[in-house]
Amino acid sequence: MTPVTRSAALDTGVPHPARIYDYWLGGKDNFAPDRAVGEQIIKAVPTVAMMVRANRSWMLRTIRYLVREAGIRQFLDIGTGIPTAPNLHQAAQKIAPACRVLYLDNDPIVLTHARALLPSTPQGHCEYLDADVRDISRVLTSPELAATIDPSKPVGIMCASVLMLLADADDPWGLMARLRDWAPPGSHLAISHPTADPNPDAMAAVVATTAKVGITFVPRTHEQVARMFGDWELIGPGLVPVLAWRPDEPPEDPNAAYYWAGAARKPDEADGGQPSATGVSP
Ligand SMILES: C[S@@+](CC[C@H](N)C(=O)[O-])C[C@H]1O[C@@H](n2cnc3c(N)ncnc32)[C@H](O)[C@@H]1O
Repeated sequence: MTPVTRSAALDTGVPHPARIYDYWLGGKDNFAPDRAVGEQIIKAVPTVAMMVRANRSWMLRTIRYLVREAGIRQFLDIGTGIPTAPNLHQAAQKIAPACRVLYLDNDPIVLTHARALLPSTPQGHCEYLDADVRDISRVLTSPELAATIDPSKPVGIMCASVLMLLADADDPWGLMARLRDWAPPGSHLAISHPTADPNPDAMAAVVATTAKVGITFVPRTHEQVARMFGDWELIGPGLVPVLAWRPDEPPEDPNAAYYWAGAARKPDEADGGQPSATGVSP
């Protein structure tokens, strides 16, 4: 596909993933076409709202881990979504007020809201980048990235519930490899990704519903998601169901939310960390 370098013009007449997701989270920034698709998916997977809340909760637990235990102080949030409190920088700055966050999304509604609703603490910094992650070269050379991220210090890269919106032909593996190559040792990559592994029929219905309205939605297997981390070291408990990743309380049914989730650390050079291979294909 041809990479899109800027977000598509705001069109509220067609459903958009960020706004469908906002509908499931109980937000107000969605329109009739978003709600119609959201409802069709609820018919196929009645627990979808629980699953997206489980994903948000994982994102916040991961940020808590990255700030408190891994000492990360700067973040790149890919596919930010419409703000839903607490947002990434709020979770990070609650622990360390000087945390810096670059929010990146290709939906103009997301960026408008993010600029208005996601102000940083005075000690920290938030920046907003209107970009398509498929144009990774533009992301990595953007003034917004340079203004936010110190390339000599570890960075936390958050890909929460976004990579399923990229087709295999967009090569999410190659994009993650570019990010892994760019990030300094000690950086962390966190990914949550919908999967059909526990319930192929339900996910097939979601794929069919989204395809009808022109939305790419690709659930992936454990092995396909695991490969996105390359040779980075997965933090315990590894790549697991989203409800089972360092839960605050043990989940009743860890497989109830159809997402794989995990976080991995780039080895220090002294540990034999090698630059990851780029262009890994599915
Ligand atoms: C399902 S929402 C997830 C929001 C948030 N990360 C979370 O987990 O709560 C996915 C977000 O990714 C954005 N997105 C989709 N494709 C993208 C792309 N190619 N580049 C940048 N952002 C993208 C959408 O606009 C949407 O805001």
